[in-house]
Amino acid sequence: MSSDRKRVVVARRLPAAGLEVLRERFEVDEGTLDLDLDLLRSRVAGAAALVADPTVPVDVALLDAAGPDLRIVANFAVGYDNVDLAACRERGVSVTNTPDVLTNATAELTLALMLATARRLGEAERLLRAGRWTGWDPGALLGRELAHSTIGIVGLGRIGSRVAELLSGFGARLLYAAQRPRPALEVSLGLERRKLADLVGESDVVTLHVPLVADTRHLVNASLLERFRPGSILINTSRGGVVDTSALARALTAGPLGGAGLDVYEDEPRVPAELIELDNVVLLPHIGSATDRTRNAMAKLAADNVVAVLGGGAPLTSVT
Ligand code: 8YV
Repeated sequence: MSSDRKRVVVARRLPAAGLEVLRERFEVDEGTLDLDLDLLRSRVAGAAALVADPTVPVDVALLDAAGPDLRIVANFAVGYDNVDLAACRERGVSVTNTPDVLTNATAELTLALMLATARRLGEAERLLRAGRWTGWDPGALLGRELAHSTIGIVGLGRIGSRVAELLSGFGARLLYAAQRPRPALEVSLGLERRKLADLVGESDVVTLHVPLVADTRHLVNASLLERFRPGSILINTSRGGVVDTSALARALTAGPLGGAGLDVYEDEPRVPAELIELDNVVLLPHIGSATDRTRNAMAKLAADNVVAVLGGGAPLTSVT
């Protein structure tokens, strides 16, 4: 039986809180975790909305395959570097993301990664599980306390600010680098603004919270890494492309870096062997927003954006 309900294509999967909203109103075609771009191009033909995620390249080919009925690309993520914004704009297609609802989960994961890297948790657990723990040793697995560290936050948007807020209880000295000064946060959280090159030279821990755009691709490259403090730690829960992976691997083996905590990679889900081999790196599989509460809130917001736009209204969280 054919339906006159508008068709919404979910490129891969969407948690229940979003699917329910969509299924009540639209004909929903949900995909699978395996991304088959040829199949996706045929599925989107004639769709009014596409729910994508960072693994789905929303490019000219996909938009053309969707055709003129497409009104919105709702990205199930705060980042939208997978979406060709100019091509969407040219076709009058709204693009939305899922800000705010994932801020805390991602900031908490950043803190977890920071502590895990500074206190060498990955290395310690691997040692124990391998049966190599021979007893308490006053000199073994010594790490770094955040309380006595200078922590540099690169990007003071929603997630960067929440990281600063969580860190303010640790007694660390907090620096930030951002395009615009944030005087109110400087006062409330005791932050000091620095130029990026100065921030990395002063920080024991540097944490990245910038979106991936042309200006931030390989922001952390070989020449910036040379300016990091000896033994310092880099944390990345933003996008893999913000860091030049080969330069990072070199800085971790030859210095100056002492460790890194990574949740994101340049070519996910490929994680370079040169990083996997290193003991001073904590590696997570892109789980920044991975809590039940947050993933459902993201899905609901993506779906609410679709409802708003297909209902003729303005998108709730537009990025275009
Ligand atoms: C998600 C993210 O893990 O929102 C983002 O930009 O990278 C993460 O929150 C992922 O995108 C879920 O779709």
